[in-house]
Amino acid sequence: MSVDTLNAGSLPAEKEDKPQIVVLISGSGSNMVAIADAVKNGDIDGEIAAVICNRPEAPGIQKAKDRDIETQIVDHKEFASREDFDVALMRAIDEYQPDLVVLAGFMRILTPSFVIRYHGRMLNIHPSLLPKYQGLNTHQRALDAGDEKHGVTVHFVTEELDGGPNVIQAVVPVYDGDDATSLQQRVHTQEHIIYPIAVKWFVNGRLTMKGCNAMLDGNVIPNTGLRLDL
Ligand code: GAR
Repeated sequence: MSVDTLNAGSLPAEKEDKPQIVVLISGSGSNMVAIADAVKNGDIDGEIAAVICNRPEAPGIQKAKDRDIETQIVDHKEFASREDFDVALMRAIDEYQPDLVVLAGFMRILTPSFVIRYHGRMLNIHPSLLPKYQGLNTHQRALDAGDEKHGVTVHFVTEELDGGPNVIQAVVPVYDGDDATSLQQRVHTQEHIIYPIAVKWFVNGRLTMKGCNAMLDGNVIPNTGLRLDL
């Protein structure tokens, strides 16, 4: 049988071989775009198999389409329970057999069975210096606490909300006169730098999760995550 016959009806070999990434979004999708740009320019040697969104009106869906990325909507409002929604979401994700699931502003609390299914191959970005400010309103909470530094964390996802091992953090200063919007913008800029770095490490096989540790090149990453200090 010739190579041509073997390849007939399938994707080109180099496309199939690349690590497959599924990105989950709920909103504007700017982190998804940053990762898609890094894939396009060859910085991330993987492929975004699909962008899946739980909100039909999310602007990020069109941004994915504009980049010729397959999209799917799994609307959480159509499901009676969190469990039913997560089962549908897992079905949608598993169509692509991803090596990595990237939560990029995906604003749903995940059930344990969902988290376990993608154990060690699911990353999240959270706009605070975890373990500080798990949950919502992180920028206002940093301001209310009088913090001089704030930031953003990429971490592996575990059953604890915003609690899995940290991979990388970017630290930004908090200035006098900042409000939640100005601080959020300063943090967001850093998100678009650190998330592609973490995804690149993962698809290159450098970033793994072992037990409760994130590892880079076989070395345990400290609890703070690797720090990008600005
Ligand atoms: C980002 O700021 C991300 O850190 C945050 O949602 C935003 C999504 O922006 N994620 C969380 O709050 C998760 N707990 P984007 O849709 O423009 O990427």
